[in-house]
Amino acid sequence: MQAIFLIGFMGCGKSTLGRALAATTGLQFIDLDTYIERRFHANIRDIFRTEGEEAFRLKERNMLREVSQFEDVIVACGGGTPCFFDNMEVMNSAGLTVWLQASRPVLHRRLSLGRYKRPLIASMTGTELDTFIADSLEKRTPSYGKSAHTFCSDRLEDKSQIQETVTRFIHTYGLPTNQGTATGHSRHT
Ligand code: S3P
Repeated sequence: MQAIFLIGFMGCGKSTLGRALAATTGLQFIDLDTYIERRFHANIRDIFRTEGEEAFRLKERNMLREVSQFEDVIVACGGGTPCFFDNMEVMNSAGLTVWLQASRPVLHRRLSLGRYKRPLIASMTGTELDTFIADSLEKRTPSYGKSAHTFCSDRLEDKSQIQETVTRFIHTYGLPTNQGTATGHSRHT
């Protein structure tokens, strides 16, 4: 089957949901940031620090084109992937794009905990993070809005919520499961 691209803001759950979906469906999981890190033997923080954001976006663009050729994969993009070059068009022609939407308080909570590994927000205070989330969401919404689907990803806080969200996703998009059963299909959630 065609690739599934999970897009959305940092902290919306792309990697958490993607990994759990892969385990249940048997599809392969690709985290685009990890793919870039492996290919260039450098972590994202160091690429930002030593080469700058522009160089990172170019690497991200090129690696996205590479993974877009794969089938039977779930790709968790970076939060900025949809907002540069014609990346959304590339994803829309290669497969199914799903914008994971988490509410602002949920994003804030998740990002406060995991900010150290994200160069764009690593040194922000709580208030700065709040403003950053609001401003960036507004700027990025036109790009995210080019996705074919939207899906609420607020409920990913523990194992049982993740499993419940996986089941809802599989059912919504008619994905196979390891047991080989395909479920219903609908376009928007
Ligand atoms: C970024 C999000 C990050 C990573 C990089 C830039 C962004 O990915 O690609 O730090 O511009 O929003 P996650 O969304 O997986 O944190």
